[in-house]
Amino acid sequence: MSEINVNLADRSYPIVVEKGAISRLAKRWHSLDLGTNVAIITNPSLVNLYANKLKTGLEREGAKCHILTFEPGESHKTLASVAELLDTLLALKFERIDTIIALGGGIVGDVAGFVASIYLRGIHLIQCPTTLLAQVDASIGGKTGVNHPTGKNLIGSFYQPLMVISDTDTLSSLSKRELLCGLAEVVKYGFIRDVALFDYMYEHAASIRELNVTKDASIWEHLVTRSAANKADVVSQDERESGLRETLNLGHTFAHGIEAATHYTVYLHGEAVAIGMRLAADLAVLMGELAASDRDKMIQIMTLLGFDLSLEKRLSESLLPYFYQDKKVRHGKLRFVLPTGIGSTTVRKDVSEDLLRAVLSSVV
Ligand code: GLY
Repeated sequence: MSEINVNLADRSYPIVVEKGAISRLAKRWHSLDLGTNVAIITNPSLVNLYANKLKTGLEREGAKCHILTFEPGESHKTLASVAELLDTLLALKFERIDTIIALGGGIVGDVAGFVASIYLRGIHLIQCPTTLLAQVDASIGGKTGVNHPTGKNLIGSFYQPLMVISDTDTLSSLSKRELLCGLAEVVKYGFIRDVALFDYMYEHAASIRELNVTKDASIWEHLVTRSAANKADVVSQDERESGLRETLNLGHTFAHGIEAATHYTVYLHGEAVAIGMRLAADLAVLMGELAASDRDKMIQIMTLLGFDLSLEKRLSESLLPYFYQDKKVRHGKLRFVLPTGIGSTTVRKDVSEDLLRAVLSSVV
C-alpha cells in the first residue's frame, strides 16, 4: 500500500494505491464524516463489477447510497449527461455535506468531477479510478469537464477531490489495449522527469509488455505508484498549468491532431500519445534540443513495450490543420513540449510549419 500526498495547502489530499482499496474505503467510511448521502457515479458496465459491492459496503457503515450511471464514451461526455446527473442529485435532495464518488475511467472522473464542482457550488468528491490511464493521470490534479461539439474538454473546471482511491485489483478487468494506453502515460513520466522510472521500465520491459497485471502485480503497483507520485508532485507545484504542468502534454499536441483527424475512431488516446511522443522526439532532434541517441532510446523503449509508432502517410500529410485546434494554442501560435534528454523537457513556441512538415513526412 502506498499513500502519496498532493500538497495544495488546505485542499491537499491523499492518493491511496492499494490492492483492495475500494472495499477498504467502505470499511472506514464512518470515520471520514462525509455526509449521509453518497452518489456513486459510474458506467453501466461497472455496476455489477464494482459499484454494487461498494454500495453494500458503504451502507453497512451507515451511508445512504445511490448508483447513478451515464453511458460510456466520449459522445456521452456532454453537458446533457451533466444536466441529467444534476437533476437526479436535486431530486434526491443531496446537500453540500454529501459526497460524490466517481467510479470508473477518465470520462467518468471528468464528468462526475464537473458535476461535483457545480452542484450547490461544490460538494465532496472522491475519485475512484478503475483504469490505468485514470489511476496514473486523469484522476489526479482536479481537471474536470465535458466536450463541446466544437472540441474536446472545452467546458470544465479545476476541482480537487478529497482523496483518490486507486484499487490496483481493478486493472485486471481491463483489456490489453486499454492497459497499453495507460502505459503510454507512465512512459511519459519517464521521458519528462523520472529517469529511475525509465530505467525500471527498461529493466522490466519483457514482463511489462505481456500486460499481465495479475502475474506481475508488484511491477504494475510500482508503475502506478511512481506515476501517481510524479503527477502529484507536478500538480502540487503548478495546479493551474502555468508552467511545469504543461510538461505533462509531451506528445499530446501531435496526439490530439491524430485523434481529431481520424474522428476519434481509429486510435485510443494512449496509442496516439505514444506516436505523438515519438514525433516530439523527432522534432526535438531537428531543432537541436535532443541528441539523436536519446531519441533512439525513447523509440526503443516504446517499441520494446509493444507500442506501434507507425503513422500512415496519408494521415500524416493531413495532420497540420488539426494541431491548431489544440486548447494550448496561444495567440494562434502552437506550443510544443519537447524532450531535451531522458527526464527533461523544454517548451518551444517557435516551431515553423516547414519543420512540422519535415517531421511528419519522415515518419513511416
Ligand atoms: N492530463 C494532464 C493534466 O492533468 O494536466
